[in-house]
Amino acid sequence: MRYITVALAKGRLAEKAMELFERIGIHCQEMKDKHSRKLIFVNEELGMRFFLAKASDVPTYVEYGAADMGIVGKDTILEESRKLYEVLDLKMGRCRMCVCGPQEAKERLKHHELIRVATKYPHIAKDYFYNKKYQTVEIIKLNGSIELAPIVGLSDVIVDIVETGSTLRENGLVVLEEVCPLSARVVVNQVSMKRENERIAKMIKGLQEILREEEQA
Ligand code: PRP
Repeated sequence: MRYITVALAKGRLAEKAMELFERIGIHCQEMKDKHSRKLIFVNEELGMRFFLAKASDVPTYVEYGAADMGIVGKDTILEESRKLYEVLDLKMGRCRMCVCGPQEAKERLKHHELIRVATKYPHIAKDYFYNKKYQTVEIIKLNGSIELAPIVGLSDVIVDIVETGSTLRENGLVVLEEVCPLSARVVVNQVSMKRENERIAKMIKGLQEILREEEQA
């Protein structure tokens, strides 16, 4: 039997995803050893392999077929725009991609002025401003602590993830516009979807049933 390889975005998402897999009978004991330095974990019996990767690399592994499947946030899927199938919304890690800034920036957004936008997600920001709002903006790519940018005058607004909203609140910023809702998704390599259809479809169906049960509970 050929291995089915699953790439998981490192962190909280991976742990939650493994809990879901366990509920459909897919266990990976090896992964529970927190001290292990291993990068890839195998369940020989089920012919499954799991590995943890940086979230932004998960779509790359899946597009090239190094992983048959992946679990990653919609933000990363949109930003990376790789060729893959997005097959299931796991409804976990829910948050929103938003345009945020000081309240005063709201006016500038309305009047389609040339503004500066700082973000870790330049593709998402570009798509939103250019293709949905038809507004020309200057995009500045940052790698973290994006909320700093409008505070220190690097940009007028930011495009960033808002979960609880506390980072914004504590820094005197507000949500100005919502770009899109986000959550964790299951993605599948396009060739694997055909070649391993039976096994992959069974897993997706199992996960769907669990999600349905949870919704009804
Ligand atoms: C994310 C995001 C916001 C924050 C939102 O940052 O970029 O800064 O979480 O969460 P909240 O609405 O619950 O406050 P993360 O902590 O991932 O780190 P980063 O600043 O390095 O991107």
